[in-house]
Amino acid sequence: MSPVLQPGNIAGVQTRNRIIRSSTSETLADDQGLITPEYHDFHLRLARNGVGLIFTGHCSVHRRGNYIRGMTAFDRDEVIPRMQKLTDAIHAEGGKIFAQLNHAGSQSRDDSIQPLAPSVVANPQFHRTPLAAASGEEIWEAIAAFGDAARRVKQAGFDGVHVHAGHGYLLSEFLSPATNRREDEWGGSLENRQRLLVETYKSMRAAVGDDFPIANKIGLWDYVPDGLTVEEGRATAALMDQLGLDAVEVSAGLMSPLAESAARYVGVTRKRAVQDKLLNRIFAKPVAEAYYRDEARRHKTSAKGKTILVGGLRTVELMNDVIDDGSADFVSLARPFIREPDLVRQIEKGRTGMVDCVSCNICLMHEGSAALKCWRESNRDLAVHAWARLRGRV
Ligand SMILES: Cc1cc2nc3c(=O)[nH]c(=O)nc-3n(C[C@H](O)[C@H](O)[C@H](O)COP(=O)(O)O)c2cc1C
Ligand code: SF4
Repeated sequence: MSPVLQPGNIAGVQTRNRIIRSSTSETLADDQGLITPEYHDFHLRLARNGVGLIFTGHCSVHRRGNYIRGMTAFDRDEVIPRMQKLTDAIHAEGGKIFAQLNHAGSQSRDDSIQPLAPSVVANPQFHRTPLAAASGEEIWEAIAAFGDAARRVKQAGFDGVHVHAGHGYLLSEFLSPATNRREDEWGGSLENRQRLLVETYKSMRAAVGDDFPIANKIGLWDYVPDGLTVEEGRATAALMDQLGLDAVEVSAGLMSPLAESAARYVGVTRKRAVQDKLLNRIFAKPVAEAYYRDEARRHKTSAKGKTILVGGLRTVELMNDVIDDGSADFVSLARPFIREPDLVRQIEKGRTGMVDCVSCNICLMHEGSAALKCWRESNRDLAVHAWARLRGRV
């Protein structure tokens, strides 16, 4: 059996294989943040097609933590019944599902809220400056919101909680010296910058108990000057592991205008560029696959919990190699599943080679304005995208 098709386990949750659908925001919630039938069907399709474990796209734990239109909310009990139906349906298909919780911090693109942030630092990605640094009371409110949301996740029948501590959202903003300029107990030393993540974990653990899996996606370093260093990121992942975190998904990147954690054109050869009309890549070298593999392997060497590798896994051979050589316990794929929701079934039938996704990131550009989909599958969608670009809409 291929290594990726072997069963896996995270804190007692058995998965039918080692393939995770990485969190990918769906833009499929209604104006209240409640999931729609389209959201339900989107995830059900992945489960029917054999995905071992689904991480939902990020869900906001607090009204003030909303990132963008169409984001799913986990900020009140009203969300539970629809989520319960979803988890029942996923389980009936033999799948497992964790909800990803997040607080957007100063990266919020929701004009109706005043973003919460460690310090008054302009967000270089979306040019928004918070009016004031978060007060101690506001920080504890956010911590409690993570705990309350985790309790709802468990009540709704999910198999675990996944927490976003990367990519420039609130938890990574507190970790990073580039965005956290505080001089109180929440800023300054690494221990102080880690405090929000640690307290958030404790709040969630108290809400769900010791047996319910909690995972983190952790940004191990920033791509901006004076940001989090990789040594600090590694120390943070190790600390969370010691505290009892059940799994770490290794990532990187903070508040920078380019989506480095979702690198473009991964593994795209000349042949693939021609096949997919990527004229700008015909004479360019393919971008390297599995760009966080070394960090994942390093973390796994000393971790008690599971290690999940995300980022640019594009050939089935490489996915198998990652599991086979012990670089990670699970492989996690975001963009490949947008384009090929049946990828696991294909692998089961012997599919090899590169996945169809060419990592052009058009799907990412339309986050918050259109439901998640691959834009390269029809000429009409590509034309709509080109028109939106021309008008500066994306
Ligand atoms: C459209 C889109 C939405 C994303 N949404 C999330 C999200 O909600 N939470 C998260 O942790 N990462 C999110 N990511 C990042 C992915 O989970 C993943 O880390 C990144 O795309 C690299 O993996 P890949 O090469 O398999 O796509 C998103 C990426 C894309 C392209
Ligand atoms: S638009 Fe399609 S090909 Fe481009 S990154 Fe998204 S899923 Fe991949």
